[in-house]
Amino acid sequence: MARLQGKVAIVTGAGSGMGRATAILYAQEGAKVVLAEFNEAAMNDTLAQIQAAGGTAVAIKTDVSKEADVDAMIQKALNEYGQFDVLANIAGIFDAMASVENTSNELFERVMGVNLNGQFYACRSAIKVFNEQATGGTIVNVASVAGYLGARGGAAYTMSKHAVIGLTKNIAAFYGRDNGKIRANVIAPGSIATGMTANLGTLDPLGALTFGDLGPFNGGEAEDIANTALFLASDESKFINGDVITVDGAWTSR
Ligand SMILES: NC(=O)c1ccc[n+]([C@@H]2O[C@H](COP(=O)([O-])OP(=O)(O)OC[C@H]3O[C@@H](n4cnc5c(N)ncnc54)[C@H](O)[C@@H]3O)[C@@H](O)[C@H]2O)c1
Repeated sequence: MARLQGKVAIVTGAGSGMGRATAILYAQEGAKVVLAEFNEAAMNDTLAQIQAAGGTAVAIKTDVSKEADVDAMIQKALNEYGQFDVLANIAGIFDAMASVENTSNELFERVMGVNLNGQFYACRSAIKVFNEQATGGTIVNVASVAGYLGARGGAAYTMSKHAVIGLTKNIAAFYGRDNGKIRANVIAPGSIATGMTANLGTLDPLGALTFGDLGPFNGGEAEDIANTALFLASDESKFINGDVITVDGAWTSR
């Protein structure tokens, strides 16, 4: 049987990179997928790819930094499919390695708005639904190795990703009592070839210098993250709760 048969999954950031790869893989594995994405054209392209392959999906234009959009996204899953089992919080933006002194309020709020507030709004709403369903539900957040190290992003990005790991562990600690009914785990990717890495923006000088000190490393593919997000969404990982899974080709092992 397909690994997500009978499940309904919401995937944010489904128009590019890891979000697109995850949405496509979830649909291949039998999930009914709700694509949530800021870039409507890119989102519709993912939708067309899923439908052409015989998968089931709908799409809703979503700015995850807006609470009302996130609520509408969750309502869309319930209205279309009558249930909601998997939340994959993947949408995110980078800060071009901006040092703390070069992080304007505008950049700080934009990065925190998408990377942290968006995941917080979605987790909070998802938990309410999962609590009421006998079958519970599973959250797969995407952070970064910048979520536990200091030199993989700028100040705002690093703060946002550290906070996502904290949010995930807090959810698991509080809601993991009813063994496995509600789970939350977080993926910490290393460097992955996606839209984000293809267009990092003009790097902050101090940020570039600090990142450069790390030396050469291997890069991964969006599918490496999608495969991990599939495992975490499926019942195969039913006893994994509150964990950070690093997917980085050994970048942080040395
Ligand atoms: N690529 C990497 O090397 C890397 C490493 C570690 C962590 N990450 C994280 O992985 C996640 C996915 O990134 P990616 O590399 O696939 O990047 P990507 O840029 O290819 O895809 C991100 C998607 O999120 C969407 N998005 C941006 N803001 C949004 C918003 N406000 N609302 C809804 N959608 C929005 C974008 O339109 C885009 O389609 C991000 O959270 C990122 O921080 C990426």
